Amino acid sequence: MSVTPSSASRKLFVTTALPYANGAFHIGHIMEYIQADIWVRFMRMRGHEVNFVGADDAHGAPIMIAAEKAGVTPQEFVAKIAAGRQQYLDGFHIAFDNWHSTDGEENHALSKEIYRHLRDDAKLITTRTIEQFYDPVKNMFLPDRYIKGECPKCGAKDQYGDSCEVCSAVYAPTELRNPYSTLTGAAPVMKSSEHYFFRLSDPKCVDFLRSWALDPSRLQPEVANKAREWLDSDSGLGDWDISRDAPYFGIEIPDAPGKYFYVWLDAPIGYLASLKNHFDKAGRDFDAFLADPATEQYHFIGKDITYFHTLFWPAMLHFSGMKVPNNVFVHGFITVSGEKMSKSRGTGISPLRYLEIGMNPEWLRYYIAAKLNARVEDVDFNPEDFVARVNSDLVGKYINIASRAAGFIAKKFGGKLAMGWATADDPFLAGLRSAGDEVASLYEAREYGKALRLVMEQADLVNAYVDANKPWELAKDPANNARTQEVCSRLLEAFRILTLYLKPVLPALAAQVESLLNIAPLQWTDVGHALPDQHAMQPYSHLMTRVEPKMLDDLFEPPAEAEGSTKAAAAASDIEAIDAQITIDDFAKVDLRVARIVDCEAVEGSDKLLRLTLDVGEGRMRNVFSGIKSAYRPDDLKGKLTVMVANLAPRKMKFGVSEGMVLAASAKDEKSDPGIYILEPWPGAQPGMRIR
Ligand code: MSP
Ligand code: ZN
Repeated sequence: MSVTPSSASRKLFVTTALPYANGAFHIGHIMEYIQADIWVRFMRMRGHEVNFVGADDAHGAPIMIAAEKAGVTPQEFVAKIAAGRQQYLDGFHIAFDNWHSTDGEENHALSKEIYRHLRDDAKLITTRTIEQFYDPVKNMFLPDRYIKGECPKCGAKDQYGDSCEVCSAVYAPTELRNPYSTLTGAAPVMKSSEHYFFRLSDPKCVDFLRSWALDPSRLQPEVANKAREWLDSDSGLGDWDISRDAPYFGIEIPDAPGKYFYVWLDAPIGYLASLKNHFDKAGRDFDAFLADPATEQYHFIGKDITYFHTLFWPAMLHFSGMKVPNNVFVHGFITVSGEKMSKSRGTGISPLRYLEIGMNPEWLRYYIAAKLNARVEDVDFNPEDFVARVNSDLVGKYINIASRAAGFIAKKFGGKLAMGWATADDPFLAGLRSAGDEVASLYEAREYGKALRLVMEQADLVNAYVDANKPWELAKDPANNARTQEVCSRLLEAFRILTLYLKPVLPALAAQVESLLNIAPLQWTDVGHALPDQHAMQPYSHLMTRVEPKMLDDLFEPPAEAEGSTKAAAAASDIEAIDAQITIDDFAKVDLRVARIVDCEAVEGSDKLLRLTLDVGEGRMRNVFSGIKSAYRPDDLKGKLTVMVANLAPRKMKFGVSEGMVLAASAKDEKSDPGIYILEPWPGAQPGMRIR
């Protein structure tokens, strides 16, 4: 066998960043979870123990304020967000072992414990009095993001406390002219307060971080470069302000009444809290697991939170006597057609919408995996590229192999495979199997794009075998039976191995294949265990469909309502969903004209229709039937202008031919509003003018 067995079983603790509990998951979160989940599933297939946990990041001022606006307690607020998480995780096959909250009791206890170690053992906590803006109406210190005012440079109004959007000047919040609190509108006052600091500037911290972050076998090169920049900067590492004054939704600092940990102190401790919660539920010893030097700890995060994870977090752990992370794996951001996600521009992809319109979650897993590498590069979601990769690679190359072979085995050979050829030195098998080690190292190194390319190269070779042997031709002549059965069996064994290689990315599909082939869940070592001779498989049923390009049109959300209008957002659910996107050329096909209603009468024998005589300036009149009788009296319409579709094919109706259509608005649900409202152009429009 050419595949080396995985080295002795490892014990892994793996996390993704903890999402703020102030909103639903977006596609960036899902991308991070897919990246981590593939790694975790790969490690499990290698026989390693993986503890993969996540949690909601519940604390901080924004969540406290959002809860207040919603009229609920912060606890209720985050509970509601938490209740919405599972549908996404299940939907995209993200296999966390546990999902918890940074407001859980474990996190309160662990945060206090770690803080006490930092304070009492490492002597790294100090206090200092600082001056800060304070909202005298709300009686709270104001985080910078809640202060606005006039730009000190150009005088532009309503600028944030850090920089001006008009002239790009950068300044401190205290430099704003006429500052005001965005929470109450009150003018903030300066007030002093005692804050707690983690003395990162202490030489022992800098020494430790140098050895941890700059260890050449650790961080990704570009992440290590950043860390070096921070560590070498002239100002050095500044002390870190870890306290916030009440009111704050967070964890109280021991022996410091009215003071809370800044959310970024307790957030990463939430990794440990979720693991502890998981171990407690399973009756396992959390302390022993973490104390074991063999336990490996890895965090998957996005590039925006590198500082917290490569400086603060390892220092907190090291100086409180805890295990430090073995590594932090940083990924870039997902962009859509080359642009940063933006709800207001309508380019955002909603993961829930993706699932709701019936798109296969494994298409997205495959597509994202195909674009991921181990660097901190942004990943672009491009609709055309998505369709091409899924349809031509995943379905066209891989699924195609099974669909070519499985039917014949069921129909002609009672579902039985002929595997006598599958000896250790069979070259067909040897080639497929020998890719396994490299695929495995690429998965482990998070080079998923390269791993999938390698697998697809193998699929190409198998497809070449299909073309060379043409099972559909062989199957025509019973004299070829033995050959047909062998060719199809080879293809199914190849399909089994390719499925194994793809299983970290396509877990649900792999499960379908396992039941099709009637085999136990595939582990990595099964690369070398061919299906036995005369093995019986299940009848073939279709494994995966192609993406219909139209689905991509449905995927993109319509632009969000203007910010701040919760009323509009609530009402938005009462309107009909906006239709699939069209191009300007599609629109231009509809010839809309201003029309004068020259005459109008009721239609005898119809309780819905009015007959309209319309002039669109063509030098002739048009006869149009319109179902607006319930809303208008004929005399009220005579002489008015309206809008009609002038190039609609004439339609023969019971009462005559209708030569166009008048435009009218109506509610989604006629029970809420039975009205019909025809359109009328503004004064000045003339019959025959085109609407463009
Ligand atoms: N709560 C903090 C993390 C605390 S970890 C102890 C936070 N939350 S977040 O919800 O804003 O982001 C969670 C993760 O999603 C982060 O790793 C972040 O980098 C990632 N992403 C946010 N937007 C993203 C994209 N557009 N693309 C990919 N990942 C993105 O930060
Ligand atoms: Zn300015």
